[in-house]
Amino acid sequence: MQYRELGRTGLQVSDLGFGTWGIGKTGWLGAEDAESMRALRRAIERGVNFIDTALAYGSGHSEQLVGQAVREAQGTVYVATKIPPKNSQFPARQGVPANDAFPADWVVQCTERSLANLGLETIDVQQLHVWSDEWVGHGDWAEGIERLRAQGKIRYFGISINDHQPANALKLVEPGLVDTVQVIYNIFDQSPADELFPAVKAANVGVIVRVPFDEGGLTGKINPETEFPEGDWRNGYFGGDRKEQVWDRVQSIAKDLGVPVQRLPEVALRFCLSQPAVSTVIPGMRSQANLDANVDAEKLGPLSAEQLEVLGHHRWIRSFYP
Ligand SMILES: NC(=O)c1ccc[n+]([C@@H]2O[C@H](COP(=O)([O-])OP(=O)(O)OC[C@H]3O[C@@H](n4cnc5c(N)ncnc54)[C@H](OP(=O)(O)O)[C@@H]3O)[C@@H](O)[C@H]2O)c1
Repeated sequence: MQYRELGRTGLQVSDLGFGTWGIGKTGWLGAEDAESMRALRRAIERGVNFIDTALAYGSGHSEQLVGQAVREAQGTVYVATKIPPKNSQFPARQGVPANDAFPADWVVQCTERSLANLGLETIDVQQLHVWSDEWVGHGDWAEGIERLRAQGKIRYFGISINDHQPANALKLVEPGLVDTVQVIYNIFDQSPADELFPAVKAANVGVIVRVPFDEGGLTGKINPETEFPEGDWRNGYFGGDRKEQVWDRVQSIAKDLGVPVQRLPEVALRFCLSQPAVSTVIPGMRSQANLDANVDAEKLGPLSAEQLEVLGHHRWIRSFYP
């Protein structure tokens, strides 16, 4: 396992982290706690030391599993979690006042709930789950964050950038008002490389890459016949003819690279790891098998310049989120 600096936090984090939305069992159906725990424990054994969770994932269920695995671990494991917006608007909308989403008292209250779920004294990286650059200098969210820092309840502060809006954090990143950003970056959405990555490098802000597999599309395992359980949120994300669209794109990526589709999870992960601005990539994992495959892929390191050049042509700007 390779370790990279998480920007100015100075934390040395594994370049493969662990995403835990799915194990929270809201939105994603089908996880089993015993297998989720096996995957978390095995991840830590194999060198993963960075786990991303959120209070919203199963109303604390994901945090409870993560906390158990972290408390049992021999070495240091860093935990990032998130404060949900008080107005429940995912993603943040334009024109909505900062205090509708993140008033200081809410920021503090949610962090205390997360600490109780995790069973930890401090949170390494506390993030706002949604963000709008209009909120820089508005509302009292920053006061809440400072209060938590002063009390030792959190160490560092980050935001999770709205889906497919990487430039909607530049006003926070450029003056160095944040320690980390979490952003969608994958073979389809390469747009963070345009403005966000140069800005985070200049400001020494850590980058946590989410959704490296496009919610599963880039694993090559979703084809026109794939069915999700009733009530699973992916019925919307991959609704209509989107499974066909994704499947066609994925076939063409594999063909252009000259690899079988079965190798796409490895390629998709290594694409993200090839970007030097990235500190850690956090695929969602709910099984030991996926964990092992992703650790094995991480060991192969970045892709070649030729492969990256081919993948540059597969950029696909769209949003399947509601
Ligand atoms: N707004 C936000 O802040 C936000 C939003 C989304 C995600 N996140 C964070 O980012 C993390 C990652 O995103 P995500 O989980 O939504 O999507 P993702 O990582 O793009 O994709 C997850 C999917 O990939 C599958 N997978 C993982 N490794 C695989 C492998 N080696 N081979 C085949 N399939 C594999 C998983 O399989 P299984 O179905 O078998 O588990 C799951 O279906 C989340 O868990 C969460 O921590 C944050």
